[in-house]
Amino acid sequence: MKSTFMIGGDLPVFRMGYGAMRLCGQPGNFGPYPEWESGKELLRRAVELGVNFIDTAHPYGPGFNEEIISDALAPYSGGTVVTTKGGVEKTAPDKVFADGKPESLRRFCEASLRRLRLDRIDLYQLHKPDSAVPFCESVGALAELRDAGKIRHVGLSNVSLAQICEAEAIVPVCSVQNRYNFEERGDDPIVDYCERKGIAYLPWGPLAAKPFAPEAPLTEDSDTSRLAMVGRRIGATAGQVALAWLLERSSCIVLIPGTTSPKHLMENVQAASLELSREDLAELNAVG
Ligand SMILES: NC(=O)c1ccc[n+]([C@@H]2O[C@H](COP(=O)([O-])OP(=O)(O)OC[C@H]3O[C@@H](n4cnc5c(N)ncnc54)[C@H](OP(=O)(O)O)[C@@H]3O)[C@@H](O)[C@H]2O)c1
Repeated sequence: MKSTFMIGGDLPVFRMGYGAMRLCGQPGNFGPYPEWESGKELLRRAVELGVNFIDTAHPYGPGFNEEIISDALAPYSGGTVVTTKGGVEKTAPDKVFADGKPESLRRFCEASLRRLRLDRIDLYQLHKPDSAVPFCESVGALAELRDAGKIRHVGLSNVSLAQICEAEAIVPVCSVQNRYNFEERGDDPIVDYCERKGIAYLPWGPLAAKPFAPEAPLTEDSDTSRLAMVGRRIGATAGQVALAWLLERSSCIVLIPGTTSPKHLMENVQAASLELSREDLAELNAVG
């Protein structure tokens, strides 16, 4: 399994990245992460383990998530890519709304540059289409930010195939971030499209499948999910098998699992080296 992906043709990233969203106050990923110093340690540990692709967004915190990343990692070591998103505003734990107006996107981007302590954001993603704003206007704003040198590459999130194609007519699209995991494969046509076009596909919620509910411990013998059964055979947790399955699913997939646990971080990084045999994959892909 190739372990790196070249985003936009010039950003090589290890395909096991890290999603930082959970390093925020709870509930609702609102406010600063209460264990700020251990959150910074976790981010530094991720980089030590080889992670060089970290996903965040303006509304995580809002803002605090970008701040803990820069507090831990700036000035960034060569090759570390921090990707963020604009286009969603959060004013309370349960008050989240799309804002894709061009002037808002410019403001979000400037704030992210400042908080991340960057001169240019390597990959800036439109977080979500705003039904109140023509999609082409939101994408056009990102194209202008790219032309102005504020961002290097444009990505999209929570989009349909038709929207990806519409955006591609305006600006090169270098990544797509939609919900996709072992149990939720509705995005299969988009994964295949991204693979054909050399676009990075960043599945969010890669571990969000049902077997990961805390009430269903992953490694117990009683867990008869296909992920757990394959995991037991190869000496891995069901979570690791879920991540390894995603990496096998397509060479364009770059993972951003989120964790606040050093143990889970290590397990997730190790999942990038798991080899799934043809037999394992057949069992995991069996219908029914
Ligand atoms: N674009 C969007 O709209 C959008 C939406 C949601 C998320 N995202 C991005 O996607 C990233 C990942 O999403 P996510 O955090 O919602 O889902 P996820 O990565 O699928 O799941 C995270 C959950 O799994 C647990 N976990 C992590 N590693 C584990 C392991 N090895 N074994 C068992 N449990 C494990 C974590 O708990 P512990 O902390 O206990 O490990 C946490 O509860 C986010 O950080 C964010 O960057 C984007």
